[in-house]
Amino acid sequence: MPGKKQTLPPVPAPEYINAIAQHVSSVCVITTEVDGERFGLTATAVSSVCAQPPRLLVCINRNGFTHDKIMAAGKFCVNVLAEEQNKVAMVFAGMSGEDADRFETGTWTTLKTGAPVLEGAAAAFDCVLGESSEHSTHTVLFGDVVATAHVASQDTLLYGARRFRQLRKLFSSIRDDIDEYL
Ligand SMILES: Cc1cc2nc3c(=O)[nH]c(=O)nc-3n(C[C@H](O)[C@H](O)[C@H](O)COP(=O)(O)O)c2cc1C
Repeated sequence: MPGKKQTLPPVPAPEYINAIAQHVSSVCVITTEVDGERFGLTATAVSSVCAQPPRLLVCINRNGFTHDKIMAAGKFCVNVLAEEQNKVAMVFAGMSGEDADRFETGTWTTLKTGAPVLEGAAAAFDCVLGESSEHSTHTVLFGDVVATAHVASQDTLLYGARRFRQLRKLFSSIRDDIDEYL
């Protein structure tokens, strides 16, 4: 049973935005396909939900173009970008202009659902759309994972504090007290 809910006012949105900007995430491109046409956007609001059954969630802005396409398609693929795929991230964030064909950047294939899968991505989660839940400007979409691909040795592109970032590689030396940073 949930405890008694406190009635406290929410923080102003700018305060929330400045704080959540510090939250570093891997960068994903969420894709879908409707009647042979491909759609996709860059997203960091992605999380694993559970492994049995394999399920993840993504939060997509309802005012964007791709949101309704995913809802109509009933499927989507979460492509976790490799660290050198920052150009793909920028294109799918709309930085090449409204009319650009986003899929001209990168090489695309499919797994099971037909949603586009990016070659060279660190991981891909091909999903059938499950439940969805609307929260103000965004919809939380749950995806039931029906196929995956991954490259274990591939580091991922990150985004946090308003910048694209790469993992700093840490090699533990033979001696426990010395760490070498690259
Ligand atoms: C680093 C980064 C992370 C983003 N994360 C999200 C996200 O989680 N959800 C979302 O709806 N939009 C996110 N966006 C914004 C969309 O990528 C952008 O608005 C895009 O143009 C939407 O495309 P659409 O109009 O085809 O839906 C992000 C953008 C960037 C640069």
